[in-house]
Amino acid sequence: MSDTIISNLVADLKAATVGIDDPAAAIERATPIIEKMATDLSWVKPAYYQCDDDQGFGITILNEEPDHALLVEAICWLPGRGVAPHDHQTWGIVVGIDGVEVNVDWKRKDDGSKPGFADLERDRETDVTRGVVCSFMPDDIHGVRNDGDVPSLSLHVYGITPSTLDRSEFDPVNKTQKPCPQRKRVLADA
Ligand SMILES: [Fe+2]
Repeated sequence: MSDTIISNLVADLKAATVGIDDPAAAIERATPIIEKMATDLSWVKPAYYQCDDDQGFGITILNEEPDHALLVEAICWLPGRGVAPHDHQTWGIVVGIDGVEVNVDWKRKDDGSKPGFADLERDRETDVTRGVVCSFMPDDIHGVRNDGDVPSLSLHVYGITPSTLDRSEFDPVNKTQKPCPQRKRVLADA
């Protein structure tokens, strides 16, 4: 049943976004489809809560295409952990499923012309609880924290698998930009 829900999600997302080159249009079309996934949680499996202690979070791949289009992942964040600001270089949408993950949006103040340098300013924070949606344009920069006492879970969809793209991670204190590290990810059991 849960696998059918994910298959239907992927089919609906493909129908809505294939051939759409404008990221804003893809986000607009995909958002209501992804939002619905927070209504009926019968697709959520306990395995999606497995986290990597070193990394601070766990990524379970629910759909990845041979051509890297339309990646769907469940991401679980450990209490007190998070991830540094980064971009995706593709459109992305997140919907909260369980717990609270704090999404932190950052604004870039420099023009990006100095290699390795980035001057970021914290923009806004959103408590991503069940049903709350955040979306990202390719150059948007965000980080995530779990300030709670329990793991949080969210569903993520990206136009293209981010790990195949030339994307960046940022250090707002030291004002650096470097290649984004590859994340540890596991494939969902069939
Ligand atoms: Fe992200």
